[in-house]
Amino acid sequence: MNEAGANEIGAAATLAEMMWTPRAAEIAREAGARLREFFAQGVETEYKGDVDLVTVADRTVEKLIRTRLGEVFPDHGIYGEEGTRERMDQEYRWYVDPLDGTTNFAHGFPQFCVSMGLERRGEGVKTDEDGTIVAAVIFDPLRDELFLAERGRGATLNGKPLRVSKTAELAEALVATGFPSRKRHQSPNIHFYHEFTLRSHGVRRAGSAALDLAYVAAGRLEAFWEFNLNPWDTAAGVLLIEEAGGRVSDFSGGAFRLESCEVLATNGLIHEELVGMFEDLFAGRGLAPIPTAEEFAASRVARAKGLE
Ligand code: IPD
Ligand code: CA
Ligand code: CA
Repeated sequence: MNEAGANEIGAAATLAEMMWTPRAAEIAREAGARLREFFAQGVETEYKGDVDLVTVADRTVEKLIRTRLGEVFPDHGIYGEEGTRERMDQEYRWYVDPLDGTTNFAHGFPQFCVSMGLERRGEGVKTDEDGTIVAAVIFDPLRDELFLAERGRGATLNGKPLRVSKTAELAEALVATGFPSRKRHQSPNIHFYHEFTLRSHGVRRAGSAALDLAYVAAGRLEAFWEFNLNPWDTAAGVLLIEEAGGRVSDFSGGAFRLESCEVLATNGLIHEELVGMFEDLFAGRGLAPIPTAEEFAASRVARAKGLE
């Protein structure tokens, strides 16, 4: 079920007033408006490494968000993809991805967003431990879709309550994933992509992890997984999903951690099924054989000759 259906059900729910997201949403909207301008005019692409792209839009918009967050929340820390590390010893810390979907953006493919997640690191939280993600803002400037959540206060899309889907089996699910742009030769994800393709309604690889997560929260996708993500990709989306009734973990079903790289996010109902699938695939069980290109070429020739 998509978010429209979910909204009907959730319409009666009153969302308690949110603490941080109203002001953070204004910042995300301003950042999104800048991204829209850059997108319309087109930008030069630079390489951070391998095929890891960056543009003037990533850098300019991170700077804008850093300035605005500093004005509005002067006591909060900021950890941004493009290098911002400010007030990192503070109790509250924003994880900022000014442009999630840079490759799409650079090619004129209209799927990207601004993502901002707020972590509270209470007293006693060790440097290698996660605090609690307490607020989330994801803004898609091309669709004008604003996803917000605060812990214990629910999740919304353009002001309407969000709920994950009610699909209970992977066989009836639409799922999504992504592939890393760094060390891409080391990624095993194509095997998982293949298996999910065979076992679900389909796999989408749209190129913005934050929006993929927001779409799980909105019931547009039943699940999302990815190897090698960073805290600025996941912080906001994870809270959106939890507040919309879904579940996020590592691939073994253990607690999700911002630095653990792996994320398995679902509507909750298919979570155990997917954890079992990961366990099987990691153990080398259940992989469906794929014809090699050579085998396929031979059968193609045979077909052309009328032998098959
Ligand atoms: C990327 C996107 C993409 C995911 C990559 C991320 P960026 O973020 O979220 O969907 O597959 O792993 O690095 O570089 O566009 O901010
Ligand atoms: Ca990103
Ligand atoms: Ca980015």
